[in-house]
Amino acid sequence: MGSQDSRSEAVDFTTDIFNEPRQITVSDTYNPNVDVVLFDGGCSDLLKDIPSNSVDLVITSPPYNIGKKYEKKTSLASYLKDMEPVIAELIRVIAGTGSLCWQVGNYVQKGEVFPLDIYFYEIFKRFDLKLRNRIIWRFNHGLHCTKRFSGRYETILWFTKGDEYVFNLDPVRIPAKYPGKRHFKGPKKGQLSGNPLGKNPSDIWDIVKQDWEDEVWDIPNVKANHPEKTEHPCQFPVELVQRCVLALTDPEGVVLDPYGGVGSTIIGALQHNRKAIAAEQDLQYVTITRERIQRFAHGKLPLRPLGKPIHKPTGKERIAQLPLEWK
Ligand SMILES: C[S@@+](CC[C@H](N)C(=O)[O-])C[C@H]1O[C@@H](n2cnc3c(N)ncnc32)[C@H](O)[C@@H]1O
Repeated sequence: MGSQDSRSEAVDFTTDIFNEPRQITVSDTYNPNVDVVLFDGGCSDLLKDIPSNSVDLVITSPPYNIGKKYEKKTSLASYLKDMEPVIAELIRVIAGTGSLCWQVGNYVQKGEVFPLDIYFYEIFKRFDLKLRNRIIWRFNHGLHCTKRFSGRYETILWFTKGDEYVFNLDPVRIPAKYPGKRHFKGPKKGQLSGNPLGKNPSDIWDIVKQDWEDEVWDIPNVKANHPEKTEHPCQFPVELVQRCVLALTDPEGVVLDPYGGVGSTIIGALQHNRKAIAAEQDLQYVTITRERIQRFAHGKLPLRPLGKPIHKPTGKERIAQLPLEWK
């Protein structure tokens, strides 16, 4: 659990997005003046110390109640009920122009699927949040189901607290498929129709999980080969965090992850000069997070570069070919 004495320390920082040396200051209790608050304990204990309206973005993947080693599986109703006080606190700490990105998949009971975002949507609406996008985050690999179609996406519910909110599209534009496309009629006929910075990435993100899984699964026995992979069973890719951070906060903004895992949110925030706050109840994951911050500070944390094109198998890989036994 988090100690009562505030422990702050500075970590040498040798590279940031501007390649200018600086330091990362880390505290294990809430402190508005450090770069990172990393709380070793339950998020409710951290949240009560965070002032109202002080956080620009909450981005998190909460426990899904599916019996992972860090959670005790309970009924869907009691799981949702237990989440409500945390949600109330999260909404209290979010600034008026701030956002919440809630990344969830399915709760499965005796083969029946309960899409968690449907249940959470209703809770967030009761708190008067406004849904701006239901982002589909799709990937190509995972468990192969035998009695239903295999699940290949999860969702991120992006809510804002109010009608005035931060949304920066330009930093997250992606290359257009046909940048040379022109208006073919009307007053703009002949002029380029796109944006030189690229197009809106839309609400379906192939992003990295596909690539992540490809790299993980296409190289048998080298599961940990993905540059970001740690021992955590449900890490989300830093690139997913980066897209939310860049679009939904301004530089120097504050990003909070109440279910911090191995610190992917912290890393995504630091990469873009934002402050980060996270709680994690499992000491093993807190330790990995601290190591990741250290390695990041020294420019030694392997990360998949933002916007790197998704890996496409050439078909020549042994694993992509029809095995002899099936010919
Ligand atoms: C789905 S994982 C998040 C993984 C994270 N997004 C990452 O990339 O590493 C949920 C995490 O929440 C932690 N957790 C569960 N209940 C918690 C609580 N009440 N307070 C803080 N952490 C909690 C679990 O130990 C687990 O690491």
